[in-house]
Amino acid sequence: MKRIAVLTSGGDSPGMNPAIRSITRTGLNMGLEIFGIRNGYQGLLDEEIVPLDFHAVSGRIRDAGTFLQTSRCLEFTKEEGQKKALRMLEKYRIDGLIVIGGDGSLNGARALHRYGLPVIGLPGTIDNDLFGTDMGIGVDTALNTIISLVDMIRATAASHRRCFVVEVMGRGSGYLALMTTISTGSQVAVIPEYRMNLEKIIEVLDRRFTNNHNASVIIVAEGVCQGAEFMQRLIELGKVRQEIRLTVLGHVQRGGTPTHYDRLLASRMGEMAVLALISGERGCMVATVNGKMQLRDLDDILERRKALPADAIRLARNIGIEIGDVVER
Ligand code: ADP
Ligand code: F6P
Repeated sequence: MKRIAVLTSGGDSPGMNPAIRSITRTGLNMGLEIFGIRNGYQGLLDEEIVPLDFHAVSGRIRDAGTFLQTSRCLEFTKEEGQKKALRMLEKYRIDGLIVIGGDGSLNGARALHRYGLPVIGLPGTIDNDLFGTDMGIGVDTALNTIISLVDMIRATAASHRRCFVVEVMGRGSGYLALMTTISTGSQVAVIPEYRMNLEKIIEVLDRRFTNNHNASVIIVAEGVCQGAEFMQRLIELGKVRQEIRLTVLGHVQRGGTPTHYDRLLASRMGEMAVLALISGERGCMVATVNGKMQLRDLDDILERRKALPADAIRLARNIGIEIGDVVER
């Protein structure tokens, strides 16, 4: 193992920069040459490959996003694209690749691994939907960003006795919505893992409004439906006695300055990815399980669906959050 390359792919997540920094510096410290591939798999096909030295990653630890940039690349999902990618890596005599991204990006990493390229993945997604790791890089920062925004919404909601519907990210997972509901003191989480019960939601709103003219906040995961669609359904029921407003948080959720947790997680995962490649590990993702770093087989993690943490579901129910009924899969 003499030359390692790193790329970021799919949706950016805060902490990707600290991960690239750690990979670069650990690799250099181990006597390797490090290359950055710009713009994800698309950049690999377009030969956007640049050497990274110690200074190239200076000052990056506090920036959200990814300075290598990222993309979604249809060509790479096809066999021809993957073979072209391998030829490009061969041209630069790259011996090992580290891919930072979500499940799509790690599927791409596994495809290259199956052609024999030594590959290690890092979980870089705010959705926290990758099986096998307790946390992904960027999840903590995204949650901190979201809760500070929802706290602001709660202030105006209370002042106007309103019901707010807040749409948060989470393509196929209710993790962000559930955790946000718990830590902002919101009343309802509408998440893809549970079937919403509109009648129960109305009961919650009604009880709060009757008791003290209290406002309510409903957190909707985008994986269920758009916040606007959910609000329309509520309005059509004709039973909500207060004004309803909608806030779609959107991409600000990905833009927060990486928290201490994410900087440390990304740095530790980046270091482990390099050490793993050097010691001959291949086709794995670096995971954190009960606070310990582990390597998990890509085959294992990509074939399984991550469930929401049972203790978080229990906690939500115990503190009176309405989350609906479990969806049988
Ligand atoms: P994320 O990694 O955040 O889940 P995407 O699902 O958009 O983001 O995937 C990012 C990129 O990874 C895609 O644009 C594509 O280039 C690559 N990719 C996704 N799925 C696969 C797959 N099954 N095989 C090969 N490459 C894939
Ligand atoms: O994968 C992370 C994520 O933030 C999802 O929650 C969301 O659906 C998606 O990315 C949106 O990304 P973009 O708008 O950049 O395609």
